[in-house]
Amino acid sequence: MCLTRIILFKQLMIKIMKRKNFLPGLILALFLGSLMVSATLKTTVKTSVDVPEDVQAVIKGKCLGCHNIESRNDKAKEKLEFDRLDSLSMVEKIGKFKDIGKELNDNKMPPEKFLERFPDKALTADEKKILLDWASTEIKNIK
Ligand code: HEC
Repeated sequence: MCLTRIILFKQLMIKIMKRKNFLPGLILALFLGSLMVSATLKTTVKTSVDVPEDVQAVIKGKCLGCHNIESRNDKAKEKLEFDRLDSLSMVEKIGKFKDIGKELNDNKMPPEKFLERFPDKALTADEKKILLDWASTEIKNIK
């Protein structure tokens, strides 16, 4: 799709250049060309993280307490701040989503010691699946 656009654009430019008074046409073509390029970029590059409501609920209930910007749990904060995911670069985001997937698959989060004291903070099977699906969808979308 992108390639055909470029070819069309080139043909348009050639037509315009063959005319005598081509300057206004050229300016118009350049303007249209830049619009096409920006439209193409917008549809292919996804930068923001989507957090559907069910995912938000699980994160709030089971993860955010330790993994937020103001957390007093420095180790947790250093590894992951859910409320700052959006400000990371694409590569960093992918890294974080992979970490999330790994920790969940290994049943490492929330930490065991914490669950001994607060057993109700354990993830249910459904909640775990919601987070895992979210992480893998985001990885696909970012790429
Ligand atoms: C009681 C606090 C606490 C809760 C609740 C918690 N975590 Fe953590 N998390 C930590 C700590 C502490 C670390 C750092 C562990 C380390 O460095 O050994 C961590 C590390 C991580 C990491 C990075 C692992 C790595 O080494 O790359 C991920 C990803 C993560 N947590 C995801 C989650 C998710 C998802 C949840 C919710 C289901 C969650 N955490 C809930 C305390 C918590």
